[in-house]
Amino acid sequence: MNILLIGSGGREHALAWKLKQSPKAERIYCAPGNPGIAQVAECVNIGVTDFDKIEKFARDKQIGLVVIGPEDPLALGLTDRLQKAGIKVFGPNKAAARLEGDKWFAKELMRHQSVPTADARSFTDADAADEYVKMHGAPLVVKAVGLAKGKGVSVCYRDVEAIDAIDQCIRQRAFGEAGARIVIEEFMTGPECSILAFIDRRNIYIMETSQDHKTIDDGDTGPMTGGMGAYSPTPVITDEVLAQIERDVFVPILDGLIREDIEYKGILYAGVMLTAAGPRVLEFNCRFGDPETEPLMMRLKSDLLEVMLAVADGRLDEITLEWDRRPAMCVVASSKGYPGKNRTGDVITGVEAGDEMADVKVFHCGTDTVDGQLVTAGGRVLAVTAIGDTLKDAQKKCYDAMAKINFDGMHYRRDIGHRALR
Ligand code: GLY
Repeated sequence: MNILLIGSGGREHALAWKLKQSPKAERIYCAPGNPGIAQVAECVNIGVTDFDKIEKFARDKQIGLVVIGPEDPLALGLTDRLQKAGIKVFGPNKAAARLEGDKWFAKELMRHQSVPTADARSFTDADAADEYVKMHGAPLVVKAVGLAKGKGVSVCYRDVEAIDAIDQCIRQRAFGEAGARIVIEEFMTGPECSILAFIDRRNIYIMETSQDHKTIDDGDTGPMTGGMGAYSPTPVITDEVLAQIERDVFVPILDGLIREDIEYKGILYAGVMLTAAGPRVLEFNCRFGDPETEPLMMRLKSDLLEVMLAVADGRLDEITLEWDRRPAMCVVASSKGYPGKNRTGDVITGVEAGDEMADVKVFHCGTDTVDGQLVTAGGRVLAVTAIGDTLKDAQKKCYDAMAKINFDGMHYRRDIGHRALR
């Protein structure tokens, strides 16, 4: 079967690497891909939202399955478009992708289905939002309701920070129309985890647990990023808590979607905080997490293509997922300036040396090739991933491989996994 993967990050490299292991996979194409993905797939110069070209390419190359990695094409309805053309897709349709693309829609569905989450109010009027902050008082969380490339969430410890976040979103349109409406949420505390499930409209299959580190600096400090590292499994989730999350979050959300006649097929990712009052949903994503996918794919023993086809065909109940019992970890190397305006074009060395190490895979997130040299081309550049007998062992392998890699302005956290290892 020919496969077309949409995307160009570390998540897509990990998915391409895993799909390539399937005996069923014939040709794998990736639009647009990156130099790492090019080792396992044929990269084609088509943007992730160029629907006309994607549809034409899928027809021309007799693609048996299109796998959509990032949220933007999902939110814009790439699945609907391809399905209409009779092309099989892994990834939710536009209505279902609102769970990520419209935080107020997600909040209302959660409320309706009694899914535990932070109390929230929604505003389009900045003055009214300011008044609410003055009345309620920080700490609060201000979120742009739309997609803002992982940057639309501000955790505000002081009123002035919340008022500034409101100004940035609504008045300054720092995130474009994504911030025209905001939600202001109750501040919660507790360890966070990422629970990802395959969903085929009726069936839910929860994957092994994982946890990411969202801030740029050690000790979970500094600005928020897309994720600077992740590991799987996470010890904060016991079997009982996972069963509780399935019962109180995934089942009622899927029931709510079915009741609204929304077909959900693909990945549903719940970002969950384990508060003193129990698990509470922070957010939903309608796609694989990045960088959670990198360690998860290292641990997945089952054929990913078989699982994705079962999801697309609505027969997930026929599938059993098998996992390597060993833990895996991923550490992200980012470019100078990230998560602010980041530099590109710095020459990267040592990736092959890292990749050659046992139990290590270096996934490319933001790289390019210029004049035959590998260079930085994004905020997050590489996701060095390793599997080990223990989490400590996986961590050591990640950092030993990272030590071989170099580029000007390279930054990575030295403490990925610290919570689990403590
Ligand atoms: N790791 C967070 C995300 O994928 O959104």
